[in-house]
Amino acid sequence: MSAAFVNIINMNALKTPTIKSAKTITPKMKMLAVKAGIFILSATITIGDAIAPSNYAIAQRLKEKLSLTEIGWLEDDRNYVTHLSTTKPLCLAPPENKEIAALMDIGSVAFRSPLLFGGLAARKKLSCDSCHQNGDVNDEFFIKGLSDKPGHIDATNAVFSKTLEDNIYNPIPIPTLYGINDKQVFGTLSPTATKAEFVHQVIEQEFDGPKPNQRIFDGLMAYIDHFDTHCTQPTGTALRPSNDQDNKKINRSAESDFSHIQKAINTAYFEWQNGHINIADFILISARHELGLIYERYDRQSLSKPSKGLIKLSAQLEQMRSNIKPVLLLQKPVPTRTIDKQFTRWQKDAKKLSAKIKKGEARSYYRADQLEALLIEDE
Ligand code: HEC
Repeated sequence: MSAAFVNIINMNALKTPTIKSAKTITPKMKMLAVKAGIFILSATITIGDAIAPSNYAIAQRLKEKLSLTEIGWLEDDRNYVTHLSTTKPLCLAPPENKEIAALMDIGSVAFRSPLLFGGLAARKKLSCDSCHQNGDVNDEFFIKGLSDKPGHIDATNAVFSKTLEDNIYNPIPIPTLYGINDKQVFGTLSPTATKAEFVHQVIEQEFDGPKPNQRIFDGLMAYIDHFDTHCTQPTGTALRPSNDQDNKKINRSAESDFSHIQKAINTAYFEWQNGHINIADFILISARHELGLIYERYDRQSLSKPSKGLIKLSAQLEQMRSNIKPVLLLQKPVPTRTIDKQFTRWQKDAKKLSAKIKKGEARSYYRADQLEALLIEDE
């Protein structure tokens, strides 16, 4: 397991300029905007006369300004702002019993973890969730050379896989994983009779990952088995129509991404208490990766409070990893009580940070208006 893609909290690599409010448009801003292909006409001209920037221009500008992992999976000529600020909703059937609940908790982390994969997929920080967003299709997923249109990918290629290259350029649609439990055959290019066989193939052949730990694999399967087409919103309207034609998307938020990590650390604690050290370790590394994805969504020059807090929590997780799984043979085992305390402390700090994240949500790059502000900001 390379540390490179979890160690995203690297101060040098992260240079994103400060957001400034764009009440007045200075000549320098106009010049910058024109350089980026964005045409902001003189402030004296009414808004209706302004020429809207093309999606392509917006994409280029955002690429210059932000280092968001997900930008690497978007085609240039798309509406970045919408895509980066929204997501497909998650809809899970409730677990049947405690053991299935525990497995689903592990699966929910594994589904978002690049640690399952090897090679380029891991380096690009891909996870199941990159293509199957919350289990549904990521309609915007695009990799140059492997996709012919958004939401399509050539999965049998030598770029990701040492074994599956078929020497044909054959991008196919990414399917939803909702409503697939009754299928007899999984996949189309290299079909299998069971879902588990297909997922083994995805991990070990398509994306060059190592054979996953059995409990992690069982967790992943339990999780995807529970994607449910029957969820409804509190209002009683269907959140996810079973025919999946509606493509409903919801707003993304730092708070909900962060609460997924808080839950993951509870799961790591539970697994560690039950003697599953490797599972706990897998979750801790994956959680650091998820913290990094939230970190990307903040302006770093001002080192706003959420950013500092995220770095601190990530460092604590690394410390916990080395305590639950000593790397040096001669290292004395860390007393259980110390580790207990660390988990409690982490959750306490995370709770405080969660409040800050909620408060600062409006300043994060989860928000469409903040992403838009980047397009006209001065340097
Ligand atoms: C790069 C995008 C990508 C990633 C990452 C990815 N998938 Fe897929 N997935 C696809 C595509 C494309 C297909 C269709 C394959 C086919 O038809 O042969 C697919 C098919 C599937 C199917 C079969 C669905 C059906 O209706 O037959 C399952 C199950 C699945 N993926 C699960 C996963 C899991 C679990 C992971 C993570 C371990 C994952 N996928 C990662 C793109 C992806």
